[in-house]
Amino acid sequence: MIVGSTKEDLTFEKRVALTPETAKSIIALGLQVYIEKDYASHLGIQDNEYTKVGVEIKASSNEVLNLSKAIIKVNCPSESEISILKENTILIGMINPLKNKDQINKIINKNIKIFSLELLPRITRAQSMDVLSSQSNLAGYRAVIDCVAEFEKAVPMMMTAAGTVPAAKVLVIGAGVAGLQAIATAKRLGAIVSATDVRAASKEQVESLGGKFLTVEQTEDMETAGGYAKETSDDYKKKQAEMMKEALKKNDIVICTALIPGKPAPRILTEDLVKLMKPGSIVYDLAAEQGGNSAYSEAGKINTVDGIKVIGVKSLMNRLPLTASSLYAKNLFSFIRNLYSKEKKDFNINLEDEIIEKSLIKGV
Ligand code: NAI
Repeated sequence: MIVGSTKEDLTFEKRVALTPETAKSIIALGLQVYIEKDYASHLGIQDNEYTKVGVEIKASSNEVLNLSKAIIKVNCPSESEISILKENTILIGMINPLKNKDQINKIINKNIKIFSLELLPRITRAQSMDVLSSQSNLAGYRAVIDCVAEFEKAVPMMMTAAGTVPAAKVLVIGAGVAGLQAIATAKRLGAIVSATDVRAASKEQVESLGGKFLTVEQTEDMETAGGYAKETSDDYKKKQAEMMKEALKKNDIVICTALIPGKPAPRILTEDLVKLMKPGSIVYDLAAEQGGNSAYSEAGKINTVDGIKVIGVKSLMNRLPLTASSLYAKNLFSFIRNLYSKEKKDFNINLEDEIIEKSLIKGV
């Protein structure tokens, strides 16, 4: 039984689905692993690091796709790869059903089972496979690093003979996975951190990291049974905007991470609100690719408005592709370990297993 992986399109994706470490673990399950040559050389990982752990290198992606029972990828395969994928195989990756409907239909028509790891249920047993958490955690960290690099002042308070430098103030909007890591990272760098979220449960988490929680008074419970946020009412939006007015005047860096799954990003910072910030301030919008939490944010661009830099994030994982690949590949390995039956020496698509059932794309 062969698990194969081919190169991603390097014009937009630097991560890989398989590292030498996870290849070794997959082989230890009793599977064979094939990759195409120069699979991860752009990350400084040479083919011999894979061959050392038992991986076979093939000259072309066609060969890998032709021989493998399961293909593991970061993104949805390209059109040319889809035309080569073999019938009755398995595809595992972050296939993004909302974005790749046509490609997914073509793949399903070939009787290929697609498992998309963004669809995994957020249950304890699936934590080691949770790609959204592993990647968003890094996004929160990297957001702070990027902001600090763009910010033209020092972040921590410094008392020097030449005078005292005040600590920078960072506001994080949305205290989910990315937001909490942004809070922790900004605190470590010495910033004064505050955060807000619609879910009341996040207050305690923010405070446990040393952040100040900015509450918007509400009567309704804004959390769904699955632990995600609900869309806010007009009344909530008004109260949130009032609270933001004061916060934005005071803060130097605002990191936006608000997300409602399956919906465009909630627009929280209007043009008027952004303009309340001081010149030299930064708005960093992690949700830019989903429409943006902030006015003036465009994915992949820095727009300067009245001296305020609005940074719209795009393909953030390409800024730390080694760590992102390492964690993503481990998530994938955990998924494969759950899917593969050593006794049957085959993949066991047991739809009574919530992890398998929820991640399988049934049609789009
Ligand atoms: P998450 O679901 O863990 O957190 C989002 C938080 O936003 C939740 O705590 C939710 O309650 C809160 N929220 C929702 N609506 C809100 C509102 N109106 N006001 C305040 N808070 C609100 O999501 P995660 O995984 O932390 O992702 C955050 C964002 O970062 C997403 O937009 C995601 O797509 C993006 N991201 C971008 C990456 C990139 O490479 N560009 C990589 C990883 C994440």
